Amino acid sequence: MSRSKGTYYITTPIYYPSSNLHIGHTYCTVMADAMARFKRITGHEVMFLTGTDEHGQKIQKVAQEKGLSPQEHVDGIVAGIVKLWETMEISYDDFIRTTEDRHKRRVQEIFRRINAKGDIYRGEYEGWYCTPCEAFWTETQLVDGKCPDCGREVELTKEPAYFFRLSRYQDRLIELFETNPEFLQPESRRNEMLQFARQGLEDLCISRSSFDWGIKVPLDETQVIYVWLDALSNYVTALGWPEETGKYDKFWPADVHLVGKEIVRFHTIIWPAMLMSMDVPLPKKVLGHGWLLLEGGKMSKSRGNVVDPVKLIGRYGVDALKYFLLREYSFGQDGLYTNEVMLNRINSDLANDLGNLLSRTVSMIEKYNDGTVPPPADEDDGFAAALKEVAVSAAGKVEGHMEAFAFNRALEEIWTLVSRTNKYIDETAPWALAKDETARGALCATLYNLAESLRIVSILITPFMHGTAEEIRRQLGIGDEPVHWDDASRFGLLGAASVSKGRPLFPRLDVAKELEALEGLA
Ligand code: MSP
Repeated sequence: MSRSKGTYYITTPIYYPSSNLHIGHTYCTVMADAMARFKRITGHEVMFLTGTDEHGQKIQKVAQEKGLSPQEHVDGIVAGIVKLWETMEISYDDFIRTTEDRHKRRVQEIFRRINAKGDIYRGEYEGWYCTPCEAFWTETQLVDGKCPDCGREVELTKEPAYFFRLSRYQDRLIELFETNPEFLQPESRRNEMLQFARQGLEDLCISRSSFDWGIKVPLDETQVIYVWLDALSNYVTALGWPEETGKYDKFWPADVHLVGKEIVRFHTIIWPAMLMSMDVPLPKKVLGHGWLLLEGGKMSKSRGNVVDPVKLIGRYGVDALKYFLLREYSFGQDGLYTNEVMLNRINSDLANDLGNLLSRTVSMIEKYNDGTVPPPADEDDGFAAALKEVAVSAAGKVEGHMEAFAFNRALEEIWTLVSRTNKYIDETAPWALAKDETARGALCATLYNLAESLRIVSILITPFMHGTAEEIRRQLGIGDEPVHWDDASRFGLLGAASVSKGRPLFPRLDVAKELEALEGLA
């Protein structure tokens, strides 16, 4: 099918390569990946961008501590991040590094354009600087004299610097939040930012001279560009803006920037103001997601309490981790991560509900019909209508939830079909039908409906766990057939496929044993 429903541009934040990424970082990328895959399968031309934010004082410091040049340090960590995304089968279309020449020269151009607009002036910076967050704070923003984001010590800093006239954009930003409720979600964040803008925006210091690991300010080699101005620009520099117009014309404005809640402020105050100054249209939407928390609080490398996604994938597989992250947490809210919650989720939804459904279905088709899916039913087993109703309406419901970024609801909907199909096995009791020669027609109808229901499930889960979807289709004997989303809302498409039993999709886990093993890995 070549119909296109238009383009779709989605981004993740670009990650700091200060150390390896943890499960909290993968959360955002997994959501973006699921959305990108969903948009592709529903007929959109997608641009999915991710990357790394490699400049700044913190990176320079970490490199120094390791006895490496900043470039050597970031090259090592970035290689690990690229490998992580490869392992996690993240389907990004481009990966931008802020140390790439294509990015650096375009950021300098952004600086020049904002300057040409009269929005940059030279002044003296005095403020409270939080090194770990790379953020400047005014006296009033500090909480108990500490960084309002991370609660750590801040330093009073004074030096010559360039400023961006953010204050000039205050009214337009307030208007943006007031008149375009779509722009920033969830609603609570929008109210927060509206309050923030109403309190009055101060001009923003956009250069530093106390370190040099950054993009040089055009015409002033003593200064490097403030890391957030550098980083935010990635969303347009990756498209080739301003000199390569192909991708830019096609994909800008972005449909959505997915970001964690603590960086919503940068994306909805500074970034729109920069774009206004550049005369570039604003992104359509910024979505702020919650954090994954551990029992002791936020995951952080410096507190040494991070959960390593690579270890979890090694034990349970990519799809189990993706499913868990998307199913367990609600988009805008924080969520508690524990190994136990994850293991129970894998066991109940994946090993029991989905895995058993497939193995039972394939086994019964092998046993009762020589491994061939019987033809579509002309006989009713008495329970099919209820199953079909759930099956054909699932895709539409999933679409609705995906529009709202409610990944957990979308998966819940698919699992309603999985559970309904399991219930159908209990209702129809094929093993009993098999003993009764006169029930042959009903048995075939039941087997067909089971396989057909699984075919639909396999399409529906494709954006979230495509490896599992492929394995289901392989076992159903339709591994080579193309996958079309629209085929998920039609019952009766499956032909006389030959099923073949394979490995269990998700072996059942011994939770106590796994908990112990995971402790040992920490
Ligand atoms: N480099 C900036 C982003 C620049 S975007 C133009 C940055 N990098 S980061 O590596 O510190 O964080 C990247 C993203 O990871 C943020 O959106 C942040 O919210 C997210 N997360 C970091 N820890 C997280 C959790 N524990 N849980 C969920 N998301 C987490 O900020």
